[in-house]
Amino acid sequence: MNNDSPQAASNQFFKTRLGVIAATVGSAVGLGNIWRFPYEAGNNGGAAFLFVYIFFVVAIGIPVICAEFVIGRSTRRNIAGAFRELHAGFPWNLPAGTGLLASFLIMGFYSVVAGWTIYYLYESFSGFGGIAETAQLHERFDAFTQTPWKSLVCTLLFLLVNFLVISRGIRNGIEKFSNIMMPLLVVILLAFCINSLFLPGAKEGLSFLFSPDFSKITPGVVLSAMGQTFFSLSVGMGTLATYASYFNDRTALVRTASVTAVSDTIVAILAGIMIFPAVFSFGIQPEAGPRLVFEVLPSIFMKIPLGALWSTLFFILLFMASLTSTISMTEVSTSYIIQEWKLSRKKAVVVNAIIVTVLAVICALSFSVLSGIKIAGMTFFNLSDFLVSNILMPLGGMFISAFVGWRLERRVLRRQLTPEGHSARTPRYISLIVFSLKYVTPVCIFLVFIFGLL
Ligand code: PFF
Repeated sequence: MNNDSPQAASNQFFKTRLGVIAATVGSAVGLGNIWRFPYEAGNNGGAAFLFVYIFFVVAIGIPVICAEFVIGRSTRRNIAGAFRELHAGFPWNLPAGTGLLASFLIMGFYSVVAGWTIYYLYESFSGFGGIAETAQLHERFDAFTQTPWKSLVCTLLFLLVNFLVISRGIRNGIEKFSNIMMPLLVVILLAFCINSLFLPGAKEGLSFLFSPDFSKITPGVVLSAMGQTFFSLSVGMGTLATYASYFNDRTALVRTASVTAVSDTIVAILAGIMIFPAVFSFGIQPEAGPRLVFEVLPSIFMKIPLGALWSTLFFILLFMASLTSTISMTEVSTSYIIQEWKLSRKKAVVVNAIIVTVLAVICALSFSVLSGIKIAGMTFFNLSDFLVSNILMPLGGMFISAFVGWRLERRVLRRQLTPEGHSARTPRYISLIVFSLKYVTPVCIFLVFIFGLL
């Protein structure tokens, strides 16, 4: 281990095992599970999408999380410094560049949607103006997102909270908080799942989510499922490598990776069980896109007793879940600026905030004044999401896995992946992970790119 590393010097380690899990699960669980998963599944054939998604989580997701952990903990550096220390020249170090780019772009559109949670929190107090009809909720969503100042205020408010938390170094406080919030989110989701099971469209909704029609699996669906895997697991852009640079030597990497992937997938499935029965009951199109859950959720809340209260609680939790995710994505560029440009944390946060705010403003306005500007048929908001999830993160994942599988000294890999106190024999699952990193992951990602993008 590297005792003169920046992390060791600033004593930035996660202190407890629970702290590590809270941070990684906090990063993974967010809008990706509750906002993005349902609409991607809705757009891509429901159960067929879920099926491919779960395959990718196991075959690619868990191994690449492990690879990022190994890179981060064995060097204890930011993403660019880590590749340098491991003597990874071009093209192996590409994920440093794609990761940094992704971390800015993702913040741009993610904070817009996180801003929506703030607005919907505000709307919860008023009980959505007493509106329960989906057609009117549809108009209400448009009226909000198409009013530039409203969506700007919400986005900027979210960014302010995010950067305040980071600049004050109170990340640890947030993680402690999320130790309580995350389980609460799961409990609330469970309650809403049960509620959804009693809706008239329950059967249709569940069969949409769980009985796959394999003829729906097209290259485009596979590309989207792969993008969702990377997005939802926060993997492929150096976020988890950066977090692992703060792990201590006792953290069991494979177990942490598996717990993260399993919890994240459970939350996504629960979100699906909550949303799709409601979608079919209220006559909403599953293909409604990014607006989907923001129309479905109020419809649910308005039809249950104490709806405003539930709604408030739900959007507070969703806001917190978004915050623990943005804190992690911002850390990629923040730790890079601190270590490579030798700036203080406060200054690094300011640089970061300036870049991200510009991108976020453009994304927020792409629902209103900038909606006419399209690149490859997509608004800036959609383009950022597409580039990050379907291109930059999988591309980063491909190089990370190939590097760790083929180039990294096997000794380093074994030592990092073998839990402390384990006997000299290498556990079997390590060979499986190495196999996936060498063959399955890079080949799969490459093929999906070739077929999905053509
Ligand atoms: N995994 C987060 C979510 O599902 O909302 C999104 C995310 C966080 C992506 C952090 C990338 C990242 F680095």
